[in-house]
Amino acid sequence: MGKQLLLEHINTPGIDTLNVYRANGGYAALEKALKMKPEELVEEVKKSGLRGRGGAGFPTGMKWSFLAKPEGVPRHLVCNADESEPGTFKDRFLMQNKPHLLIEGMIVSSFALGAEVSYIYIRGELLYVFHILQRAIDEAYAAGLLGKNILGSGYSLDLHVHCGAGAYICGEETALIESLEGKRGNPRIKPPFPAISGVWNRPTVVNNVETIAAVVPIVNMGGDEYAKIGIGKSTGTKLISACGHINKPGVYEIDLGIPVEEFIYSEQYCGGIKNGKKLKAVVAGGSSVPILPADLILTTAKGEPRLMTYESMADGGFATGTMLGSGGFIVMDETASIVKNLWNFTRFYHHESCGQCSPCREGTGWMEKVLHRVLSGHGKPDDVDLLWDIQSKIDGKTICPLGDAASWPVASAIRHFRSEFEEYIKNPASIKDVKHYYTTNNLQPTA
Ligand SMILES: Cc1cc2nc3c(=O)[nH]c(=O)nc-3n(C[C@H](O)[C@H](O)[C@H](O)COP(=O)(O)O)c2cc1C
Ligand code: SF4
Repeated sequence: MGKQLLLEHINTPGIDTLNVYRANGGYAALEKALKMKPEELVEEVKKSGLRGRGGAGFPTGMKWSFLAKPEGVPRHLVCNADESEPGTFKDRFLMQNKPHLLIEGMIVSSFALGAEVSYIYIRGELLYVFHILQRAIDEAYAAGLLGKNILGSGYSLDLHVHCGAGAYICGEETALIESLEGKRGNPRIKPPFPAISGVWNRPTVVNNVETIAAVVPIVNMGGDEYAKIGIGKSTGTKLISACGHINKPGVYEIDLGIPVEEFIYSEQYCGGIKNGKKLKAVVAGGSSVPILPADLILTTAKGEPRLMTYESMADGGFATGTMLGSGGFIVMDETASIVKNLWNFTRFYHHESCGQCSPCREGTGWMEKVLHRVLSGHGKPDDVDLLWDIQSKIDGKTICPLGDAASWPVASAIRHFRSEFEEYIKNPASIKDVKHYYTTNNLQPTA
């Protein structure tokens, strides 16, 4: 088992309350941070090598140092707790079990950035977690950890938790900002980036829940110590939410750098494939990242063991690699249908497209229809090429990365599992559970 910097004491009864959290070392990082200068804290985060845990892996210290600091203009920290990426459920797990870890991270990070009003934007469906967070925030205010003159330091912070209405696109940072401002959650055209013009057009940092929580152990142990965990530019620990055909689905905190094979098969993590079946494929970082077949997720094209790091996952580019992404690790055994899973993902992206860009608005729906046609036994010989063509006209041609997120699963499924599409088209009898597609979608088979 790797170091448990975030999940430490997760099973301690009452760890969601202030008293128990403090009795187990909680808010020590805040006391330490308030005695430091804000720029020293930014330096510690830079030294730690922490990379954003929301999906893109952008270096957190660097993002913080980009924050504009115009005289007399307030700045904000916004925590992205929208977590709607299929397969990803790590932030919810952390917030519902250790809400004070996120709140402590928010106070320390806001102090480092010079923010005096900060926000947690939480996904609409997580209403019960919203209440857990609000109760913890109330406790922190009552204990003088939030509000005016925190712990007598002279620093003041107000922290608001804001519940979205349950739209995946509101996880994209500029759509989130629009939604937080009370508008429809449409992504903004960038530049300007939030570091220059974010919430209320003020300089803003948007960071993921896990990123902000990781600031607490970084301050406690020091950036250099944190950087000793992991390999190369993938430092520290990472939460992975594992699901699918494995014996032990759940949220695991791993040291970055362990082999993928160890993560899937060892008893301390996923515990191997269910019912002794063979591994077929893995979507390693949430539904948006390219799917890889068993051989390529375990071993890179160079023949080296694939590691749980940003670099090793990306090894080979999209031809033979993928991304660590948000850490949503979806495992499929030999019985899984890649085409059916792809239809499910594509249906999701079509539903969640905000509709601003035609390639995404039209293309996601078109891909869903073609996949539905194939799955309902009416696929045409050109459908695989058609799907390839549509996805290639979305990728990189949209305002926000949701378009890419919709195209990459299609491209990778065709790249690695083309014969499965072709078999469904040539031999519709090989498609199982076809009825399911008529009833769940309430559609007739397309001619
Ligand atoms: C469609 C879409 C959905 C996203 N959803 C989330 C999300 O739920 N949580 C998150 O932290 N980042 C999400 N992101 C990434 C954010 O835009 C942003 O990069 C991230 O919050 C930055 O935090 P980090 O640097 O700590 O990773 C999403 C991006 C896109 C394009
Ligand atoms: S890519 Fe899709 S979700 Fe993103 S702005 Fe364009 S239409 Fe909206």
